[in-house]
Amino acid sequence: MHKQVETIQNDFASSIQKCLDLETADKIRVDLLGKKGTVTELLKGMKDLSIEDKKIYGPLLNQLRDSINSQIEAKISQINKEIMNKQLLSEKSDFSLPSQKTKTGTLHPITQVIYEAESIFKELGFVVAEGPEVETDFYNFEALNFPHDHPSRDMHDTFYLDTKENHLLRTHTSNVQIHVMKKMAPPVKVIMPGKVFRSDSDVSHSPVFHQIEGLYVDKNVSFANLKATLQYFTQRFFLKDTNIRLRPSYFPFTEPSVEVDVQCVICGGKGCGVCKQTGWLEVLGAGMVDPNVLKNVNIDPEEYSGFAFGMGVERLAMLKYGIDNIKLYYDNHAYFLEQF
Ligand code: PHE
Repeated sequence: MHKQVETIQNDFASSIQKCLDLETADKIRVDLLGKKGTVTELLKGMKDLSIEDKKIYGPLLNQLRDSINSQIEAKISQINKEIMNKQLLSEKSDFSLPSQKTKTGTLHPITQVIYEAESIFKELGFVVAEGPEVETDFYNFEALNFPHDHPSRDMHDTFYLDTKENHLLRTHTSNVQIHVMKKMAPPVKVIMPGKVFRSDSDVSHSPVFHQIEGLYVDKNVSFANLKATLQYFTQRFFLKDTNIRLRPSYFPFTEPSVEVDVQCVICGGKGCGVCKQTGWLEVLGAGMVDPNVLKNVNIDPEEYSGFAFGMGVERLAMLKYGIDNIKLYYDNHAYFLEQF
């Protein structure tokens, strides 16, 4: 028996040393300690031994089984550790590799133009204000000196929401002039960007578009101030030497009223297809705030005067970037938008 135990021990020592994988380790365990394993069989044979032999071989075999068991366990955990290390090594991140490029979006050209215009007017001391898109007849028309049943209302192809409450979608940002002047006492110097709505649609008209409104009311505000402000804006927004010209026009809420042209930014004023050979492009409407409008918001027109202007953002962007179809702004094709 002694000899047998010694052989088992020696064989086990050499096989466990050679063992490199979990399968072999398991096989060694089954061969020795499994149901029909060599050590198990020896332990089973104990019952046939004499009491003296049991006393000797009992502890010897138990020790053999425990020692084999713990060595196999140690081997298995060592192999597992090696497997894990190998895996970690193969999964190691290479921080020297160049990173993948992430694509970031850009601001929509309309938003860019609004931000740029705001920052130019801020240089002149204007602050930004906003007003509602769903409006009442009073703010969109009446307070702005559009009399009821006056043909000037036909200039705006208005979307009416309900006739009883007089709700409509604002046709211009001039409604914000009224909101601001009702809340603030002069001096008022605001720039008011926003969406406006008209029932009109072709290559240069969209039922939803954007305007930027300007309003300056104070003592002694003059027409010369208006012209200087618009000249400053157009030269900052387009080119340093862009000229403007003012043509007499009509708006119910300004008197006198003008339409403002900039020298064609495409041909520089020589005449081309875009400016229809005139050398000029219309970009905005403007004028001195009509005394009736000031009265409507309780500002004394004897004491205060003001100017207002309104421009189409899509039109400004079309001229700045040479865009020939207004629908491009709203189709949201990445190949169009990513150019800005
Ligand atoms: N609200 C006018 C329009 O939409 C533009 C304008 C604004 C004209 C302010 C004069 C003064 O056509």
